[in-house]
Amino acid sequence: MPTNRTHEKRERSRRWLGQPQQQQPTQAVQPSFDSHSSLESSSQEPAEAQNESTAVGRHWAQVSSSWRTHHSPQYASMVVPTGNSDAPIHRWFHLKEAYSKDLLPSLLALLPNIVTNDRSLTIVDPFSGVGTTMVSAIEQLRSGKISRLRGYGLEVNPFLQFVTATKTSSALNGAAPAITTLASLVACAQKTRVAPEELPSLSTFGNERFFPREHVEQLVALRRAIDEADIGDADRNWARLALAMTVEPASRLRRDGRTLRYEDRAPLAPYEVFVRALERIAEDVPELALPSGDVQIRHGSALNPGWGVEPGAADLVLFSPPYPNNIDYTEVYKTELWALGFVANQDEFREQRQRTLRSHPSVKFRRELKYPNDARGGDVTKLIDPVIGEIPSDSRYAKSLERMIEGYADDMLTVFDAAYKALRQGGFCVYIVGNSVHGTSEAPVMIASDVMLARLGEIAGFTVESINIARTLPRRRIDSAFVRESLVVLRKEA
Ligand SMILES: C[S@@+](CC[C@H](N)C(=O)[O-])C[C@H]1O[C@@H](n2cnc3c(N)ncnc32)[C@H](O)[C@@H]1O
Repeated sequence: MPTNRTHEKRERSRRWLGQPQQQQPTQAVQPSFDSHSSLESSSQEPAEAQNESTAVGRHWAQVSSSWRTHHSPQYASMVVPTGNSDAPIHRWFHLKEAYSKDLLPSLLALLPNIVTNDRSLTIVDPFSGVGTTMVSAIEQLRSGKISRLRGYGLEVNPFLQFVTATKTSSALNGAAPAITTLASLVACAQKTRVAPEELPSLSTFGNERFFPREHVEQLVALRRAIDEADIGDADRNWARLALAMTVEPASRLRRDGRTLRYEDRAPLAPYEVFVRALERIAEDVPELALPSGDVQIRHGSALNPGWGVEPGAADLVLFSPPYPNNIDYTEVYKTELWALGFVANQDEFREQRQRTLRSHPSVKFRRELKYPNDARGGDVTKLIDPVIGEIPSDSRYAKSLERMIEGYADDMLTVFDAAYKALRQGGFCVYIVGNSVHGTSEAPVMIASDVMLARLGEIAGFTVESINIARTLPRRRIDSAFVRESLVVLRKEA
């Protein structure tokens, strides 16, 4: 039975959509967003979102009808991490959900007035991931395309924040790692005896199919050797990063979308992988420091007020938020979180999940909705209730999907408020997001995040400059122009 609130929303949704919708009992399906789908052929033409086959599709078409929407295939390779796994520093830790290192240079070429007349750039990424934005920005400084850089990054996952902070300080500060000393940590680790109670209590490490026991022991021994070594902070961070680069190759697990998947392969010897990772790091660290750059990467949430950025200081806020597609980053990067000691027990693990954006249903979030008590609450309701109203009430996932849509909209309005405050007049907020299909196979519910976020940005005060469809994603179970991944440009009017 739908709750009173759901029933009320469904009724409101029908009024706005102007038609009754009878849902039949249907089979529930997992939400889908496949970031590895092949590209459809695209044109440079303005995109038309007509003939949407579902009421939700028509709702998104109506919300976006006054904005410029284009097919922009030139961005297709940039919304995925093209080139990152071969590029110095970017390659230290791969995030499948990252965008390309080439995105920022392309944007700066396309929107030249992002950079001020004195060729300085103040840039913010509130969802830093593995630091693609900031490492690319530092490359712009190193190549002389900009002459001064101030960067602010936020990341809620302490392991990913550590990756970004280590990458950016290495890219800015230069200096070579003490590679011989760091490689000798292996000899210390080999002498270390690891007691069973020292092994991480995460069950994944206890499963011999995933991790041979001696590999887990070697990872723990390495961590102890790194923690106890008499070395400087920079060297310790490089060694810890090399340890993080060792975890997945030392297992039979592979990150695959929203899960860690078993793969029938021989796990690599941890000590050898660790030394190779150190060599790779040493190869990439530049010799010279860049004094004209100042980049701060904080461990914190994009939902915290202020972001640590002086109001009106930023030229560009650039990010890709978690998409509402069920990817739970705490889960996907859990082995590194535990192996490096960022999380020590299940309570800390749950707490970490609680801090993340409400883009996944892995936990019942404790945060309340803010928008119902906000003067703009009616605008948000008008945006999301027509979607919530179309969720098949007999789906097992109905309640969690409703909660996710409301929570996601609430959180992203907070993010756009903070972005608006951080930006100068005339500054840009650019984001990349993929749309996802939820609901059931007979009654799919499209969450057009590109449109939803643009409207939330508008509610926060931005002007929607353009929605650029980087790629469309072939989906058989829904015929909609909104099955796509986009780059959206918002502007704080001068
Ligand atoms: C799509 S990824 C960003 C990838 C990044 N653009 C890159 O290229 O590496 C989204 C990131 O948002 C982070 N995240 C989730 N909730 C957050 C929050 N409340 N505040 C800050 N970061 C958060 C996730 O941990 C994840 O790293």
